[in-house]
Amino acid sequence: MGQILGLGITHYPGLSVQGNITRRIKLCLADPALPERLRSIDNWPEAMRRQWGADEGQAHSDEHRQAMIDGFRRARRALDEFQPDFCIIWGDDQYENYREDCVPAFSILAYDAAEVQPWLHNQRGVNSWNEPKDKVLTIQGHRMGGKHLASALLNEGFDIAYAYKPLHIGLGHAFVNSVLYLDWDRSGFPYPVVPFTVNSYGRHLVGTQGVPPTPSKGRSIEGDEDPPGPQPWRCFQIGAATARAFARSPWKVAFIASSSWSHSFLTAKHGRMYPDIESDKRYFEALRAGDWETWRNTTLEEAEDRGHHELLNWFCLAGAMAELKRKPDEAVFLESWISNSDKVFAVFRP
Ligand SMILES: [Fe+2]
Repeated sequence: MGQILGLGITHYPGLSVQGNITRRIKLCLADPALPERLRSIDNWPEAMRRQWGADEGQAHSDEHRQAMIDGFRRARRALDEFQPDFCIIWGDDQYENYREDCVPAFSILAYDAAEVQPWLHNQRGVNSWNEPKDKVLTIQGHRMGGKHLASALLNEGFDIAYAYKPLHIGLGHAFVNSVLYLDWDRSGFPYPVVPFTVNSYGRHLVGTQGVPPTPSKGRSIEGDEDPPGPQPWRCFQIGAATARAFARSPWKVAFIASSSWSHSFLTAKHGRMYPDIESDKRYFEALRAGDWETWRNTTLEEAEDRGHHELLNWFCLAGAMAELKRKPDEAVFLESWISNSDKVFAVFRP
């Protein structure tokens, strides 16, 4: 009989480098396509003004960064206590491994291992650990576990794609950052990983080439969107099937959903400047209560309106935890109006 640990984390890129993580606000302010009303700080929501403060968000940046690090240390403790045979990570591929030549709605990367150089093309700034530019990170895979999952899903009627080797890059940001952050204290990450990609960016994948849309860029791709990503309710179903696949396996498996919640740059109704915090709070309360109906019935149009594109990764976890009749043992909501997104950490113990 298999055992399953559920974890929810973020792979927020801003955490990987030093400095003020609220820099995007200034980019928005300098963008001629930003709605005029948002140019004046007086028109911002009150909580957003407070976080921006008199120091251009520096205090919020410091506090939010530390809260994320604390979240990762708690998640790592839960993993170490559980000692999984491997981890399934639900993450988005942001025009990294999947580009014009093939875009699966979902895929399972049943690699033996992946080698990545996280800082080689880093232009964001000095990385948070002062690691050398040529650092090589080898992330162990679990081919057997990946094959088992693909087989189980196909046998249930989910037409899942799978791969034994990468198409374009070693591994995308969602998976690499998850591992980098779960090993915040650099003791090593001993658990193999089976990446489970979700086409979270859907209509905004190829058109943006994975670059977060600014107000101007967001306007320029309107009308020329790509086909959509998978429906949130389908993510929920595939997560539930993943739980069934491993509940009857011989393994101890950690299920990890990796993403920040509503993204500013995907929330068109807020000028792509701040996220849909109200919706995030509603989904967080539902998650905390184990009220899975709120999650189960969401449509893609609703998710896109809320900037919940990457939350599709969490819909998979929600489906799995609903299937296992779990509520989180720990759940933390980190509200952030000015760092692009709210972050949530959750632990669902067996
Ligand atoms: Fe992402």
